[in-house]
Amino acid sequence: MSINKESELLGMKTVSEAVGLTLLQMREYAKPGMTTKELDDFGGRILNSLGANSAPRLTYGFPGWTGISVNHEIAHGIPSAEKVLKEGDLVNIDVSAELNGFWADNGGSFVLGQDRHRHQPLVEASKKILHAAVQQIRGGVKVADIGRLIELQAKKAGYKVIKNLTGHGIGRSLHEEPKEIANFYDRFNLTRFKKNTVVAVETFISTNSTYAEIQKDGWTLVGDRGGYVAQHEHTIVVTQGKPIVLTVSNGIWN
Ligand code: CO
Ligand code: CO
Repeated sequence: MSINKESELLGMKTVSEAVGLTLLQMREYAKPGMTTKELDDFGGRILNSLGANSAPRLTYGFPGWTGISVNHEIAHGIPSAEKVLKEGDLVNIDVSAELNGFWADNGGSFVLGQDRHRHQPLVEASKKILHAAVQQIRGGVKVADIGRLIELQAKKAGYKVIKNLTGHGIGRSLHEEPKEIANFYDRFNLTRFKKNTVVAVETFISTNSTYAEIQKDGWTLVGDRGGYVAQHEHTIVVTQGKPIVLTVSNGIWN
């Protein structure tokens, strides 16, 4: 969407705060021994208490309030009463929601408890790359150039990127123009970021895989070559200078 009125900015700020707060509280609530369903239900209650509706449920009929992807899962992991979180798991929570007709998207990977499997460097790289990418976005910048930045920084850190999962425009629905903000330099993508528009930028930094493949459950995405993937995502307003990061909760980049 394009923000043309103060009320639209306010609407975007309110829904972004709701998803930011939900993500932050879910991360703090996550403990070894808990099922991903318990964690998701906790998140669902927070969204509900804030008057927000789960975006994937509303848009795609996703069987959960949030996406919780563990270890080899990249994204769209279905919360399950059979999936028990363990110390050292690489966990990704993706929270997107609608509130009063405005939509926001916020996600992040983290290591649960002690870093037994040394996932933290991957998580840190993803966070750092998202931060660097977001800082470069402004009106007139080519979407493909942000992809190039993400890909180059991942490479420098010894990682790869997932090519078929991307960021996207957002605001009046979950996925809007620009449809794809890729993690690599897509020379066919000639679109540019436009001032006052709202976009969700998300990293998919990977140890081995370069493509996400859908599992038999019809939702869960895993890498084509195994390994691990870290994702971090923020909803931002593009300006002529530094963007406004709407989903940063209490100044913390998740
Ligand atoms: Co998301
Ligand atoms: Co998104």
